[in-house]
Amino acid sequence: MDRFVIKGGSALSGEVLIGGAKNASLPILAATVLAEGPSSIGNVPRLQDVGALCRILGQIGVSVSRDSVGRLTCEVIDEDCVTAPYDLVRRMRASICVLGPLLAKRGQARVSLPGGGVIGPRPIDLHLKGLRALGARIRIEHGYVVGEADRLRGARVYLGGPSGPTVLGTATVMMAATLAEGETVIEHAACEPEIENLAGFLAAMGASIEGAGTHRIRIRGVEKLRGARYEVMPDRIEAGTFLMAGAITGGDVFCRGARADRLDAVLDRLADANVNVTEEPGGLRVKSCGRPRRTDLTALPYPGFPTDLQAQMTALLSVAEGTSVLTERVFPDRFIHTAELGRMGARIAREGDSVSIQGVRRLEGAEVMASDLRASAALVIAALAAEGETVIRRIYHLDRGYERFEQKLRSLGADIRRESGRDVALPGLGTHARAA
Ligand code: EPU
Repeated sequence: MDRFVIKGGSALSGEVLIGGAKNASLPILAATVLAEGPSSIGNVPRLQDVGALCRILGQIGVSVSRDSVGRLTCEVIDEDCVTAPYDLVRRMRASICVLGPLLAKRGQARVSLPGGGVIGPRPIDLHLKGLRALGARIRIEHGYVVGEADRLRGARVYLGGPSGPTVLGTATVMMAATLAEGETVIEHAACEPEIENLAGFLAAMGASIEGAGTHRIRIRGVEKLRGARYEVMPDRIEAGTFLMAGAITGGDVFCRGARADRLDAVLDRLADANVNVTEEPGGLRVKSCGRPRRTDLTALPYPGFPTDLQAQMTALLSVAEGTSVLTERVFPDRFIHTAELGRMGARIAREGDSVSIQGVRRLEGAEVMASDLRASAALVIAALAAEGETVIRRIYHLDRGYERFEQKLRSLGADIRRESGRDVALPGLGTHARAA
């Protein structure tokens, strides 16, 4: 297992190119199951999670290849296998997004139930409710979702859950409805930009969709979809992460490809925290104006502050002047990063779905452990500003969702290096125990 060694203290400066969005790429790639003929998809980031989904696509008969400029060509070459096995799905929860397309196109699906994650339970009841409303027969058998359907039928589907709308649940029902007979209306749909990006791809394939990006999406089913050429949107979470990294180091960073209209809530809270972000042609620039100030925020579904930037903002506010209160309404248990930040000197106290962060002047380098993707990014942000050296173990979590993260940070002047875990001989355990 690799680890990062980071020496804090360098102000980041320069330009970074924001890559394609992980959370748009995954459902877009899954949607290629619906098409007749090849699709060509650009701006797909090279990430572990994308690789994991491509392996599942391979398993269910979709050939996937990457050309020299990085475009992926996906084409269904065999419709016989409809099983996404546990061994692949357990690596990535978002694998569930092949369920809707398989049912709509092939009338059958067998997809391993994804388990929970460190950010909390990850139910899929709303995905199943939506597919059942379209006429799919679904049962859970030996840890698998087993679905069958004749042609799906359009329906009115309410997709609100206890924490609001569901992003991938909306994607599942939207994809399935494209080939259903008649009209589907999704009420309380997620309006994340990634859903709009997916809807754009489905429309390019010949689907008829209105209202993506709002809480009501209307889909008129068509007989067939064709392959299409399409571009994945820039990753707003990666952009937000670099803005916060620039801010905490007192730097000057231009994030090429970052869009203000996708980050309104984040820019609003950064402004309140005395972080200066300006829109320039082609991107956003963060420029230091001294120590950040306290602010409060609540992570909510879009257009609220994204839960996927909550941990990174916690790192930034841990060095702010004053005490901030941060509440998490999407995944109320997503606070695993706070204990590790505490080992670096952050003063964070949790109460229910909130934390209060008493800002300190300086964090200290320490040995810490990454626990999930965004928590790991928070530790990197903290380490960039900490006094001395930080060693972050288990950084494979970062490789799931940030493309060439350390290279990008190094190009901005960060002192960060990746070290491979060494095999060490522990008494009685032989040499297979790992050091990192
Ligand atoms: N929920 C249910 N029932 C369901 C589905 C969700 O109750 O059937 C609940 C969840 O437990 C949660 C809330 O609804 O409390 C929202 O979950 P959602 O379904 O929107 O999450 P998701 O679609 O599984 C995507 C992203 C996550 C991101 C969330 C919220 C992808 C691949 N994943 O997950 O991204 O945090 O939306 O914005 O798009 C990440 O990138 O690090 C990540 C975790």
